[in-house]
Amino acid sequence: MHVDILIVDAEELITLKGYSERPKIGAELRDLGIIPRGAVAVMNGKIVDVGKTDVLVKKYDADLLIDASGKIVLPGFIDPHTHLVFAGSREEELTLKLEGVPYLEILRRGGGILKTVRLTRNASEAELFKEAFERLNIALIHGTTTIEAKSGYGLDTKNELKILRVNRKLDEEHPIDVVSTFLGAHAIPPEFKENPDEYVDVIIKEMIPRVVKDKLAEFNDVFIEKNVFSPKQGRRILMAGKKYGLIPKVHADEFTDLGGAKLAAEVGAISADHLLNSSDEGLRKMAERGVVGVLLPATSMTLMSMKFADARKMIDLGVPVALATDLNPNCWVENMQLVITLAVYFLRMTPAEAISAATINAAHALGLGREIGSIEPGKKADIIIMNIPNHMFVGYRFGSNLVEYVIKNGRIIVEGGEIVK
Ligand code: NIG
Ligand code: FE
Repeated sequence: MHVDILIVDAEELITLKGYSERPKIGAELRDLGIIPRGAVAVMNGKIVDVGKTDVLVKKYDADLLIDASGKIVLPGFIDPHTHLVFAGSREEELTLKLEGVPYLEILRRGGGILKTVRLTRNASEAELFKEAFERLNIALIHGTTTIEAKSGYGLDTKNELKILRVNRKLDEEHPIDVVSTFLGAHAIPPEFKENPDEYVDVIIKEMIPRVVKDKLAEFNDVFIEKNVFSPKQGRRILMAGKKYGLIPKVHADEFTDLGGAKLAAEVGAISADHLLNSSDEGLRKMAERGVVGVLLPATSMTLMSMKFADARKMIDLGVPVALATDLNPNCWVENMQLVITLAVYFLRMTPAEAISAATINAAHALGLGREIGSIEPGKKADIIIMNIPNHMFVGYRFGSNLVEYVIKNGRIIVEGGEIVK
């Protein structure tokens, strides 16, 4: 039989098979479904067969044969939490943080998210697109094939819609699939400083209906935090979005335990993210409801608190965990390989657990477990080849790009670590 691409002789073919219907929990995270000397057949953008090399080479002749000997083959990384579209930068805040000024104090002074809001409001759609497109290229060469992108630096209807339109255009024009999340509730805009509930009304009455009418997002996210949005306001926004078909997500318990994890479970959120200060009760509720916990170790690093999410406890409690960059001007990282390294060393996840969290479980954090996140027949051919001999090198060897090939929708997009022109 004829196929487009046949990848052969992978030292380890990491399939992650068997978890398309629900995310992995507990000990399942360590089960990577590895086929030694594995092969994958790709046709019309899809994976059509997976197995031992000696079996597949007899079944298929391919337009293109890729020799993966000495290397590992795995699904493309999925980055399920980013603030991809923003203008400007905030490098001066790093010095402030080094002097001991906390993140929320920088925000209170009108910096942080609010600085990025000022710059993003003044930027054109074309400028935002161009800068975000370049960030996507960096994510791509480091192995990311699907990314989530939030709005949240507009904080008024016009500018939130502008950012979401950029998300859509990026999805259309960049090889990476971009999944869009509305985050009107990212901060209280200065205009509503004295009456935040009025801003909540604007989100509910004006923004959400427009976002849905223009089909600009699938998810609706809220930053629940002291001096940002209360659980009560968050619940209103998430329930209003649900009526319009937007699936809830929550920035939960990043600095303060306001019950964000519990709220995420109660409103039926697909994920709760950050979770640095969540109560055991909240985590248990997430486990019961299958809410994915998206962990963001790069954020912990950049906040300089040295406080990390308790991934070991979450895994013990049966919370399905995923990993993401949180790419934003406070935590400017596009590279999921680095996030995996941080997860290994600071969240104490094994390389196998971190790989599951950055692929199949990340797919579930976006409701895409049936389409992506594993190497199984019928799934999108989103595949990466890393120049390391086994999966235990993922996270272990770090600081350089180990991704050699990226195949997206069955096409080679990166070869030899570079984007194919
Ligand atoms: O997920 N915590 C709130 N929002 C982002 C940071 C955004 C920013 O600082 O610009 C986060 O960490
Ligand atoms: Fe975030």
